[in-house]
Amino acid sequence: MRPVTLETVFSHPVTQKYLRRSGIAHAVAVAEYAYIFAKRYDIDPDLATKAALLHDVGHYTWYRDGKWDFDLYKENDIHAIKGAERAHKLLIRVGENRHAAKEIAVAILLHTDSYLPSGELELRPLQKVVALADEADEEKDGNHHYKQIDDTVALERVRAIDRLIDQSEEALRTNVNMM
Ligand SMILES: [Fe+2]
Repeated sequence: MRPVTLETVFSHPVTQKYLRRSGIAHAVAVAEYAYIFAKRYDIDPDLATKAALLHDVGHYTWYRDGKWDFDLYKENDIHAIKGAERAHKLLIRVGENRHAAKEIAVAILLHTDSYLPSGELELRPLQKVVALADEADEEKDGNHHYKQIDDTVALERVRAIDRLIDQSEEALRTNVNMM
């Protein structure tokens, strides 16, 4: 049994507060993509989906005259750094294993390179999966941050990911026992 489910992470008031800034629909969609990519690249789906769900919790709102100012955002944004720290604190608080919390936090830190000096970063597979999942849901002009989703639907989709992870862990255990 996993110490912490995606539902526990998702339902936490801290997650809800910050995900409302960057978009719950985007976070849930990225977690779903992360599950698919994790299975494809043989990465732990538990880590990948948690990192994906929380990847944008570090966002600050860059409004000028009631509108999101992309130039201001691009120049000053550190959401990956802030998100990594916030996610780590939250995960430890809800009882996540320390090693998992670190892996998830580093994947969040590296999910975008927009704030880093230019050059090639060699991402590790978990980090790559989270970055790919984010890209898969990206829309022009940051529109993915404005997609709407009903709260009940969001929770149901998160629970569905939890069930898939539990089933794949169960299948793994059965295979090991049969060997
Ligand atoms: Fe994102």
